[in-house]
Amino acid sequence: MIENCARQLMARYAVREIRIPLLERVELYQRSSGETSDVVTKQMYAFTDRDEGQTVLALRPEGTPGVVRAYVEAGLDKRDPEQRFFYGGPMFRRERPQKGRYRQFYQFGVEIFGRADPACDAELITMVDDLCRELKLAVDFEINSLGCQECRPAFRAALLAYGREHWAHLCHDCHERLEHNPLRLLDCKIDVELAAAAPKSLDFLCPQCRHHFDLVQQLLAAAGVAYKVNPRIVRGLDYYVRTTFEVYCQALGAQNAIAAGGRYDGLVATLGGASVPASGFAIGVDRLALALELVAPGSARRVALIALGEQAVVRAAELARQLRQYPFEVELLSPERSLKAQLKRANHLGSRYAVILGEDELARGRAQLRDLERSLQHEVALEDLAQTLCAQRREDAI
Ligand code: HAM
Repeated sequence: MIENCARQLMARYAVREIRIPLLERVELYQRSSGETSDVVTKQMYAFTDRDEGQTVLALRPEGTPGVVRAYVEAGLDKRDPEQRFFYGGPMFRRERPQKGRYRQFYQFGVEIFGRADPACDAELITMVDDLCRELKLAVDFEINSLGCQECRPAFRAALLAYGREHWAHLCHDCHERLEHNPLRLLDCKIDVELAAAAPKSLDFLCPQCRHHFDLVQQLLAAAGVAYKVNPRIVRGLDYYVRTTFEVYCQALGAQNAIAAGGRYDGLVATLGGASVPASGFAIGVDRLALALELVAPGSARRVALIALGEQAVVRAAELARQLRQYPFEVELLSPERSLKAQLKRANHLGSRYAVILGEDELARGRAQLRDLERSLQHEVALEDLAQTLCAQRREDAI
């Protein structure tokens, strides 16, 4: 359901699909995700291929570098730089597994090339907002700006000085971070207070970056996307500049980031292409699915059809085809089970509605429509069933 919904959304945003390999040379990630990122230093599944060159390959830990490589290899950076791609599929990171954090997980990502303007960043964030609205999932958007090549060095230097000043109170990981990537000091989960009081990128933005970030915010406000500025969003991957963002679903607990992204203007050039700006995001599909299960166990689209008797099965099969066109997710339950067992199954499936077709009702051209979430039941004419369900769905959506 999530992927279907996302694909439909992509069509509306004029984003085309790109398919990228699961295996890439390990250097691709070292040069992009970053030599100091957790993804590269600790989490990659890499192995030596027994080819002549003893190439080291890695299972992709994220999609962005593969999309950029394909874009450059196809010569699009020079021929036709403005491109909008989406991709989906499994990613692999050797992390400590826990609920919402897996070693093989699924992402749905979007990458837009050739656009340096803030409207592109705002549009990407709006896409995630649209998807969550369609899925009826309440989420929080947090955004930040990390500045650019021009203004980042001063921010980095300030962080370094701050870290050195508080060296004795920093955790072991932060000591390492300070040496290799001081920005990561800000998202330390241990030195929370020190991180909160640390210098913020927003105080170091050059006029161009400040203007860019202001416009992103204006555009989000105009699009009706609620967001919070969080100066601690630095992201764990090295390629970001200017806008970064994360999307959280509070219902999820510890692993509550369901999507993240930002601008990465230097990456195409770093990977051998022309100087083309780019921006994107990736949604964690597993986490999104978990969140939907938590907040909407009875999907308003899910309908269980319960047929009691042979005549009813024939009519129920017809109805199932009809309802799927609206579209509802319809399951015609096994008529060999009792009414009680079928209702139990309908609940187990997380159906919002059960339509019960008994011989008596059928003879009168009617069915029982049961709202499983509210435990309410009433009779409807079969010819009105689809419209009644659509009306209920609209009501639920408001
Ligand atoms: P990321 O923040 O590493 O960004 O991952 C994006 C999302 O993938 C996370 O917010 C989370 O929902 C999901 N995710 C990450 N690791 C796991 C895991 N171990 N188990 C389950 N879900 C996980 C990127 O990957 C960037 N490539 C995003 C991007 C695209 N930036 C620009 N373009």
